[in-house]
Amino acid sequence: MQVRDSAQGYGIVSRTFHWAMALLLVLQVTTALLHLLAGDSAAARTVWPLHFQIGFTLWWLVLLRGSWALANYRRRPPHEGSPLLARAATMGHLALYALMVVVPTLALLRAAGRGRGVRLYGIQWMPEGTPEIPAFTAAGNALHGTLGWVLASLVVGHVGFALWHGLVRRDGTLARMWRGR
Ligand code: HEM
Repeated sequence: MQVRDSAQGYGIVSRTFHWAMALLLVLQVTTALLHLLAGDSAAARTVWPLHFQIGFTLWWLVLLRGSWALANYRRRPPHEGSPLLARAATMGHLALYALMVVVPTLALLRAAGRGRGVRLYGIQWMPEGTPEIPAFTAAGNALHGTLGWVLASLVVGHVGFALWHGLVRRDGTLARMWRGR
């Protein structure tokens, strides 16, 4: 089994990061949609606390995944298609990574700064009742939700392009992330 990435495909570490984060992002956007559309319902109240836990998990996963991607940068398969298409794919992936870091970071900073305590994975990381730090909360208040929806839209576009590569172009792009070659 190939651990590291190669020109022929992604190794098991990159593929595990990719599909685990894909699943968590779908769950995360589902909790956000329920919160937006039916915030008072029992279903929304049940799943909304998961938003914090899943978001925190996505945050440390993307930091590990980004480090692994950088370590494998020169070994990764090139993008298929014309130079313009390949450049567009690179820009799209950079935007996805940037938002996967920025969106949860803004929310975690806000959680740390709003003085109501931070409890994640059953551990009280910050106590309740500390003074609010507006410098930590302002950016999250202004941007977390909006950038979250931008990230969700990019993920939908990413899935659409992956399916186009797999079903229309049949160029092996999908197989490299699914089977590794
Ligand atoms: C990649 C990770 C994340 C994504 C994609 C994401 C996405 C979103 C989206 C789309 C909304 C808007 C919901 C609405 O319009 O009602 C939202 C709201 C919210 N999120 Fe997240 N989120 C993430 C991580 C986090 C984390 C780590 C926390 C907490 C530490 C958090 C806390 C909140 C809160 C409190 C709201 C409601 C207030 C607001 O809209 O700013 N999120 N999130």
